[in-house]
Amino acid sequence: MLLLNLTSSTSFQISRPIINRSLRLYSSSNPDLGRKSSSVQKLNEKPKKQKALNLQPPKGMRDFPPPLLRQRTYLFSQFRRTSLSHSFSEYDAPVLESEELYTRKAGEEVTEQLYCFEDKGGRRVSLRPEMTPSLARMIMSTKPALPLKYFSLPQCFRYERMTRGRRREHYQWNCDIWGIKGIEAEVELINMIVTFFESVGLSENDVGIKVNSRGIVKDLLEGLGVREEVFAETCVLIDKLEKVPVEALKKDLEELGINENQITSILDTLVHKDISKISEIIGPDSAAVQEITQLFSICETLGIEKYLEFDASVIRGLSYYTGIVFEAFDREGNLRAIAGGGRYDKLLESFGGESIPAVGFGFGDAVIVELLKDKGLLPDFDKGSVDFCVFSIDSGGTSSAMKLGNELRTKGFSVDVVLEEKKMKWAFKHADRIGAERVVIVGGEEGERGEVKVKNMESGEQETVELKGVGEWAEKIIGE
Ligand code: HAM
Repeated sequence: MLLLNLTSSTSFQISRPIINRSLRLYSSSNPDLGRKSSSVQKLNEKPKKQKALNLQPPKGMRDFPPPLLRQRTYLFSQFRRTSLSHSFSEYDAPVLESEELYTRKAGEEVTEQLYCFEDKGGRRVSLRPEMTPSLARMIMSTKPALPLKYFSLPQCFRYERMTRGRRREHYQWNCDIWGIKGIEAEVELINMIVTFFESVGLSENDVGIKVNSRGIVKDLLEGLGVREEVFAETCVLIDKLEKVPVEALKKDLEELGINENQITSILDTLVHKDISKISEIIGPDSAAVQEITQLFSICETLGIEKYLEFDASVIRGLSYYTGIVFEAFDREGNLRAIAGGGRYDKLLESFGGESIPAVGFGFGDAVIVELLKDKGLLPDFDKGSVDFCVFSIDSGGTSSAMKLGNELRTKGFSVDVVLEEKKMKWAFKHADRIGAERVVIVGGEEGERGEVKVKNMESGEQETVELKGVGEWAEKIIGE
C-alpha cells in the first residue's frame, strides 16, 4: 500500500509527510536512529518470489490441449459410430460414486487402486475406477425394458503403477448387453470391437481377441474338488499369474484351501491354447466347452474368426465375471490389453438384486492410441479444420468481416474471423495455423466494387466473388 501511495500522484499529499519523516530519521547524519520502521523496510525490501507453480497435472492425469482433444474426439467419434451402428444407446453416470459400489472382497487390483475419500458430509466416496457397477446400480434403479444395449465413454480413475498405456486416469468405451443369456450377445460385442478396429485401419495382422470361459475354470475346479465359494477369488488370483511370482501365487491359493496337487493341475490346464485339449481334460459334455465352440462357429459365420484365439489362461482380473471372458491384444505383444470384458450374470445379486444376464467390455483410450501411433495410423491432429478464415484489409473493417462470417455460418460453414486489424501476411499465417481451407479478404478495391477475394489455401488459387452471393457461392463450391 505504501509503495502505491508513493507512486500515485493523487495520494502524494498524504504520503509526503511520511517520506519526509523517514528520510530524516534514517539520514546518515543521524546514525543513532538506525532501527528501520516496518513501512520503510517494506520500501527497501525486494518483493518475495512466489513459489513457482508446478505446471504438470497430478501424476497420471492428462491435460488435453486442442491437438490432443482433437485426437480424443476422433477416437470417441469412432467409438460412438460403432456403438450407434449396432443400435446401442448412450448413457452416463456420476464420476463420483459411493465407495461401497467397488469394495468387493475378492482381492481385486481395482479395489486396491481406488481414489477414495470421505466427503464433507462424512460419506465414503470414490472416483469411479470402472463403469460397470454404476451401470448395474442404474439398471437396478431405473428397471429399463430388457434386453438392452447400452454404451458410454466414461473417464475412470485408478491409482495404477504407470506403464505405457496404463495411466491413473483413462477414458473407457463401455458396451454392455443386458437380458440376453446366449453367447450371441458375446459375439455381438466381439463383432463391435472388430468393427472399431477396422474403422481405424487395424486388421487381424495387427490385433487379436483372446477368448476363454470362466465356466472352464469352474468345471476344472469342481472336477478337482475345490470349494465353489472360492471360485471368484481363485479367478482373481489366477489372473495375476503373469504379474506375480508363481510361489507367491501358490501361497495365496493355498490360503483359499487349494492344495499343491490341485494348484499344479489348474496351472497345467490353463496353459492350453487348444479347446480340444481342454475338452479332453474336463470332458466334452462341459457346457462351457460347448459354448466356446459355438461362439467360434458364429464368429466364423460373421467372418471375424481370424481375430479370435482360444486361450485358457485369460481369466480377467475382475471378480464378477461368470462365463465367457475376452481380451483384445496387439499381435506384436508390446502393449497391455487393449480391451477386456466378459459375462457377469450375477453382479446384481451382489448388490442385493435379482440376477439379470449381462455381458460387456471396456476399451481404454490409452493403449489404442499407443498402438495407432506405432502403426502410423493416427491422423494428424496438430491443426484444426475451418472452412473459412475471414479477414478485413480495411482499417475499421472488422465488423464487415464479422457480418460476412455470420452469413457463412448460417449456411453451415465453420468460420474464423480475424478480430484485430492485422497485416495480410499475418492473416495468411494465421489461416494456415488454424487449418482454414479458404481465406476470404473483405475490403480494399474489391470491397468498393461489392466483391470479396477468396484464396484456396491448398491450391493457392484466388477468385473474386460478389459479396451479396458469397453464401450461395460457398455452398456451391464446397458442395462440389
Ligand atoms: P478392465 O479389464 O479393468 O475392465 O478394463 C478394461 C479396459 O480399460 C482395459 O483393457 C484397458 O483398455 C482399459 N484400462 C483399464 N485400466 C486402465 C488404466 N489404468 N489406464 C489405461 N487404460 C486402462 C473393466 O473395467 C470392466 N468394467 C469392463 C466391462 C464392461 N466388463 C463388462 N462391462
